[in-house]
Amino acid sequence: MSKIYKPVKNIFKNPIFKDMDDYDNLVKKFDENYEETWGELAKENIFWQKPFTKVLDESNAPFNKWFKDGKMSVAYECVDKHLKTRGEDIAILFEADDGTNIKLTYNELAKNVNKTANLFTNVYEIKKGDRVVVYMPMILEAIYTMLACAKIGAIHSVVFGGFSSSALRDRIIDAKAKLVVTADGAYRKGKPYMLKPAVDEAMSSGCESVQNVCVIRRNFEPIETNPKDSFYDELIQTQKETFQTVWFDSEDPLFLLYTSGSTGQPKGVQHNMAGYILWAKLTMKWVFDNKPDDTFWCTADIGWITGHSYIVYGPLANGTTTVVFEGVPTYPDAGRCWKMVEQHKIDQFYTAPTAIRMLHKTGEDEPGKYDLSSLRVLGTVGEPIDPPAWKWYYETVGNSRCSIVDTWWQTETGGHMVSPIASCTPIRPGCATLPLPGIQAKIIEQDGTPTPVGEKGYLCITKPWPSQIRTIWGDEKRFIKSYFGDCVYGGKPVYFSGDGAMIDESDYITITGRTDDVINVSGHRIGTAEIEASIKDCDMVASSAVVGKPHEIKGEAIFGFIVLKDENSISKDDLKIKLNKILKEDIGAIALLDDIVIVPDLPKTRSGKIMRRILRSIVKGEAIVQDISTLEDPNIVSVIEKLCV
Ligand code: WTA
Repeated sequence: MSKIYKPVKNIFKNPIFKDMDDYDNLVKKFDENYEETWGELAKENIFWQKPFTKVLDESNAPFNKWFKDGKMSVAYECVDKHLKTRGEDIAILFEADDGTNIKLTYNELAKNVNKTANLFTNVYEIKKGDRVVVYMPMILEAIYTMLACAKIGAIHSVVFGGFSSSALRDRIIDAKAKLVVTADGAYRKGKPYMLKPAVDEAMSSGCESVQNVCVIRRNFEPIETNPKDSFYDELIQTQKETFQTVWFDSEDPLFLLYTSGSTGQPKGVQHNMAGYILWAKLTMKWVFDNKPDDTFWCTADIGWITGHSYIVYGPLANGTTTVVFEGVPTYPDAGRCWKMVEQHKIDQFYTAPTAIRMLHKTGEDEPGKYDLSSLRVLGTVGEPIDPPAWKWYYETVGNSRCSIVDTWWQTETGGHMVSPIASCTPIRPGCATLPLPGIQAKIIEQDGTPTPVGEKGYLCITKPWPSQIRTIWGDEKRFIKSYFGDCVYGGKPVYFSGDGAMIDESDYITITGRTDDVINVSGHRIGTAEIEASIKDCDMVASSAVVGKPHEIKGEAIFGFIVLKDENSISKDDLKIKLNKILKEDIGAIALLDDIVIVPDLPKTRSGKIMRRILRSIVKGEAIVQDISTLEDPNIVSVIEKLCV
C-alpha cells in the first residue's frame, strides 16, 4: 500500500474539521439522526424566508423532496446575503486570456446580476420555469446570466462552448428553451475564437421554441445578425440596478446540465434549488477549508458541473473570491497557472488530472519559479489521478505541505461525495479516501452485499442526499432506469453511480472507473453510443464500436473499431479524417477518434450485442479472459487482435 500523507496542521487556521475525531463525530451524528442533522445544516447555512416543514420526504421515491415548503433564493444566498457585511469584498477575480484583470466586488456583482435579471424579465419576458440556454465563454456575463436566471427562477442550461452547433441544437430542442444567451466569441491563446456562428447554425434548423438570442460582444469580430438577435451591451444600459428578491420553493428547479449516458441521447440532469446550494456551500467549506477571505481558483469551464458548483455557486454562496479565467493553462507558457497563483495569492487550486499531467509534462520545473506559498489546498476531479502526476502535484506544486483533495463526484451528485477533507483526512496518492459526512457511499454487489476488501464493486449511494439529481428533464422513466435500475440495498433500489470502486482495510475508497459504456476523455464524459450514432452517419460504415484506450495525458482516448460496407474502399487514415469531421460537426472536438482500426466484423453475441469488454481488453493489450464461446464467431477475436498490433 502506498504512503499516507497527513495534513500539515499549521497551515489551517480554525478549520471546521480539526482532526479525524471531528469527522467521526459528524458521521456518527448523521448515523444517529440523519434528517435532523441535515435540517440543522440547512438552517445554519441558508436564509429561509419561510421555514421548511419537513427535511426529507421520500414518499414518492426516488423523486425525493428536501426541505419541503421552505422558501429561499439561490441568488440571495450567492450575492445579496453578503452585501451588508462584505459588499466591498471581491466576489470575482476575472483574468482575461491576455492577462488583464477585473476585480468585481459583491456590490458590483449584485448590480450586474440585477440588471441582467431586469433585462431577461422586461425585454425577453422570461418567467419562472422558462429555460435559458447559455452558450458562452468564460467571461463575467456568463456568471451574471446564470445568477440572473436563479434570481428570476428561470432554469439555465449551460452548454459547453466546445460542443458543436448540432449538439447545441439538440439541447435547445430537448429543453424547449425560450432564450439563448451567447457571445460573439472570446479569446484563446492570444487569438479570437467564435461561438455565435454555431448558434446561428443551430437556430437555422428547428429551434422554434427560442424567441430571442441575446449576444454579448466580447471580441467584436464580425458576426451575422439574425431577426431574433439583440445585443446585451445595448439593452443592459437602461436596466435598473435593483431587483426585488423573489423567494422560491426549495424544490423549484435551478438548472439543467446535459451529460452523456449509455444511449445516444444526452440526459438533461435536473438540480433543484435548496438542496443543491446547501451542498455546494458545505463542500466548499468542508473539503477545501475555504473561508470568505480566501481566493479560490477552479480551472474548469462553466459548461461542466465542476464550473457550476465550484466556480459559481459554491464559492459565491460561501462569500469567497472566485477566479474566472478566460484563457488556457499553457498560454503564454506552462507557468501561467503558477504565475496566477503567485499574483492573486490563491489559497485553493482545483483542476483535473489531465491538466496536471499536461503541466507536469510541459513544465515540470515551472512551479519552482513562482512563490506558491499562499496555497493550502490542491484539488483534483473528473478522473483517476495516476501516482506520478499526484506526486508532482504534491511535492512540486504543493511543496509537500498542501493537502490534495481527490474529489469523486458527478454531474448527478451536484457536489463532492467521496473526498478527503483538506484539514483532517490523511491522504494517499490516487485515492478518494472517505465519503463526506452525510453521504452514504457504499461499495456493493448488485444485490446489496458488501464487496470484499480489495475487490471491485459498484459504487452506490444508499440514502438520498440534498444535492441529488431530481430527474432527467422530460424523462422520468429514464431517470429511474439510469440510476435506480441496477443495484438494491436493504431491499430497496439505490442510486448507482455507474462507477466501479474498491475499498481497503481502512475503509478508504479508490475509484476504478466507469462500469458502463461511458468514456472519460480528459475528465469529460462521453457515451460510446453517442459516438457510434455519429459514425453511422458515414455512408461507408456498416457498423462500429468505440472504447476508451489509456492515454498519457487525456487519461482515456477514443479508439474506434470500424466495419466498412466495402472493406477496401478507403484507407485507415482517410477514414479517420472523414469520421472525425463528422464527429466534430455532430458533437464537438471532445469526441474525436484518437485512433481506429478497420476490422472485418465485431465480436458479437448470438443475440447481436457487441462485447465491448473484449475490445477494451484488446486495446489495452490485455489477455482475453472473457468467455468467447458465446460469440457468434469466436475466431473474430484473434483476427482483431492481430489487426491491432
Ligand atoms: C469520474 C465531474 C476518479 C467518474 C465532477 C464519474 C472520477 C465521472 C473522479 C463524472 C475522481 C469524477 N476519481 N474518477 N476523483 N471524479 N470521476 O459528471 O467516472 O463530468 O462518474 O462530473 O467522472 O463526470 P462528470
